[in-house]
Amino acid sequence: VPAITRTDAAAMDAADPLVRLRDEFVLPDGVVYLDGNSLGALPRRAAARVREVVEAEWAEGLVRSWNEAGWIDLPAHVAGKIAPLVGALPSEVAVADSTSVNVFKLLAGALRLRPRRRVIVSERENFPTDLYVAQGLAATAEATMGLPSAMALPW
Ligand SMILES: Cc1ncc(COP(=O)(O)O)c(C=O)c1O
Repeated sequence: VPAITRTDAAAMDAADPLVRLRDEFVLPDGVVYLDGNSLGALPRRAAARVREVVEAEWAEGLVRSWNEAGWIDLPAHVAGKIAPLVGALPSEVAVADSTSVNVFKLLAGALRLRPRRRVIVSERENFPTDLYVAQGLAATAEATMGLPSAMALPW
């Protein structure tokens, strides 16, 4: 297999239809940033929008902004935007709460749906707060944790 050269990579970048989106994000000079799941790069438009939310919708609109600024509709609105990205219908996606709260609700719901199954299995290397939530739930729901190391799994 021939190695990809820097020239090849530059040509692929030049032909990439998404390359124009690079300028939509703020990143320090020289940084190649590959972490998208935990904290992605700051979208330029997000900074302006956050300022608008805080200074106009929160400071001026106060509690009225739930309706007047449409905050109340945001979970469904954002879910509708995510749905095509994950191949789902808008009604199949929910955007709500924090990751930890959603992990808790998901695991608690799963334990309730299958009362005879009392083991929560996760990779030992999983995100720490996800494991703390699962361990806390297991302790109060008469369940136990199975924590194999992903490093030890055969695949
Ligand atoms: C996999 C994972 N779990 C949990 C969290 C914690 O999220 P939250 O503070 O929304 O509960 C994060 C945050 O980056 C995460 O990436």
